[in-house]
Amino acid sequence: MAENIRQVLSRGEALRPQSESWQLDTELLLARVLNKPREYLFTWPEQELQLRQIEEFQQLLSRRKDGEPIAYILGKRGFWDFELEVNSSVLIPRPETEILVETAIELLSESRKTAAKIADLGTGSGAIALALAKSCSSSSVIAVDFSEDALNVAKSNASNLGISNIEFIQASWCDGLQDNDFDMIVSNPPYVAEGDAHLLEGDLLFEPSLALVATENGLGDLHTIALQCREKLKKGSWLLLEHGYDQKQAVAEMLERAGYFNIQCRKDLSGVDRLSFAQWGGSSF
Ligand SMILES: C[S@@+](CC[C@H](N)C(=O)[O-])C[C@H]1O[C@@H](n2cnc3c(N)ncnc32)[C@H](O)[C@@H]1O
Repeated sequence: MAENIRQVLSRGEALRPQSESWQLDTELLLARVLNKPREYLFTWPEQELQLRQIEEFQQLLSRRKDGEPIAYILGKRGFWDFELEVNSSVLIPRPETEILVETAIELLSESRKTAAKIADLGTGSGAIALALAKSCSSSSVIAVDFSEDALNVAKSNASNLGISNIEFIQASWCDGLQDNDFDMIVSNPPYVAEGDAHLLEGDLLFEPSLALVATENGLGDLHTIALQCREKLKKGSWLLLEHGYDQKQAVAEMLERAGYFNIQCRKDLSGVDRLSFAQWGGSSF
């Protein structure tokens, strides 16, 4: 017997044990199958679906039930004021990373720097680099990643969004940066400790471990970046690092030891210490 939109949506109950956002997930999946906005589902709840559409929806629902992140199934995720293409070679951009973008823009505007030279280390989908390139259109951004597959996603996002004041480099952290006069370097590096139980939960199970896991109890990449950036930043310019909820103190100590000053931390919208930033002092101790 033919089923209508309302009836098909009720199949989403099967996601309840896996996903806190099971209703939203179900609506997004059905809207994708119908190639319509989500609102359509509530405007036309009695519309009957074709068997082919129900089968396609059921397949997407099964993928979600198996834990695959909704962003990978849909192939997109909203960040800042745009939508990014994502796939399993990139971290799914998180809302908490927007605090890094906001702070970077604020610091650039306080320094009255209009044509800043910015680098984003570990760009993934390009989320941070593209948000900065778009918001600071007179600036130039270099987006670095070790993963060629991730860089292909970031390049495709730049092209889809028509953002051209950005350059992409495949390298390990600062190794690919020729210049040593950056006004700002930002990074959301991997910062989860090897063996952390969170790696076995939710979206993290499906995300690339290159994007998540770092040595030294999660601090290894943060440490390398803080040290390497000293050779690349102008004196007095800013380094911004996203980090884990319990890493504020360790990051502050590492920045101070490395010769940075004016070290500050901001919380994300959940009240978690998420972003540390500091100015480069100009001489290593
Ligand atoms: C936590 S993800 C951040 C992605 C993106 N910037 C975001 O905020 O959504 C970290 C990124 O660092 C990259 N990465 C890991 N090791 C790297 C290295 N040695 N050099 C450059 N990039 C690296 C990963 O491929 C991944 O894209």
